[in-house]
Amino acid sequence: MKRIKIFFIVLCSFVVLAALISILLTYKNLSAGIEEIPEKENLIVGFSQIGTESSWRIRNSESIFEAAAEKNIKILFDDAKQKQSNQLKAIRSFIVYQVDVIVFVPIVSDGWDNVLQEAKEAGIPVIVIDRQIDVDSSLYAGFLGENGYEEGRAAGKFLLQKVENMTNQKINILELSGTENSSIAIERAGGFREMIQKDSRLNIIHSEDGDFLRSRGKEIMDRILGMNNGLFLDGEPIDVIFSHNDPMTLGLLESFEKNNISDYPIIISIDAEQECIDALVNGKINCVVECNPNLGPVLMDLVEVVAAKKEIPRVTYMEEKVFTENDDFSSYIPRGY
Ligand code: AHR
Repeated sequence: MKRIKIFFIVLCSFVVLAALISILLTYKNLSAGIEEIPEKENLIVGFSQIGTESSWRIRNSESIFEAAAEKNIKILFDDAKQKQSNQLKAIRSFIVYQVDVIVFVPIVSDGWDNVLQEAKEAGIPVIVIDRQIDVDSSLYAGFLGENGYEEGRAAGKFLLQKVENMTNQKINILELSGTENSSIAIERAGGFREMIQKDSRLNIIHSEDGDFLRSRGKEIMDRILGMNNGLFLDGEPIDVIFSHNDPMTLGLLESFEKNNISDYPIIISIDAEQECIDALVNGKINCVVECNPNLGPVLMDLVEVVAAKKEIPRVTYMEEKVFTENDDFSSYIPRGY
């Protein structure tokens, strides 16, 4: 009887041991299975920015970094320091690195065909932001940014209303234009002209490339004031200044102060940087058309779509406002750039 008891105890011990071993093995297999599921890798985006020429531009880069960080998307960043050749080099290095998506701000609209063909052959989708390009649409996935024609039209529309009741026979406009051959300068100029042609008194007497730079805005105005002994061009008064961006506007305001100009012309600017909004509130500028730099969140959504080899809209425009001297300034909220 005692032997039978011992036999049962040994048998039960074996059964329990076998069960324990089997549980352990099953657990090990399960955990091995979990370990084998590869972690979802972060997307890598190669981003070629044109530079840091304005607070607008700096905010534009920040917005993209912030939105990428929120989605755990890695950014390989290159600052082209205002040179297309640097952008071409950066995009080629993104191709060698085999990033998932390439994003770039084209400083000018042409000269991108070859590098975009190379990206296409490497199977890397490209999203163009802020400024448009002049290439076959099959070479990039889509565009995200501002509608420069609308910005120019908004500036022109404000001017039409502003001069409506003026009795002048002629209203002379000086235009400070953005970087030559950039789509955005062409669009802003086009939209503005489209509107002002509705009033035959409005006449652009001089247009000059200020390269979107504050230093150029100041330089151009210093020269005009110096040569003409006041706000004139070839003996004609300058009644209106249309500036394609805020830094150039701020540069010309600096020049006005330095040269003791107190009788300001009508000034219309584009971007809506805080410093220009302050100048509007202080009565130095009459209208500022917003150019929205906060592309980051929408861009990262588009990045995920193209990385999944799906299509995005050909063009996505950002929403933009117009700030004028007629606004209730107490409703303004800080611009953040
Ligand atoms: O392309 C957008 C323009 O570039 C902005 O108006 C300007 O401030 C920037 O430099």
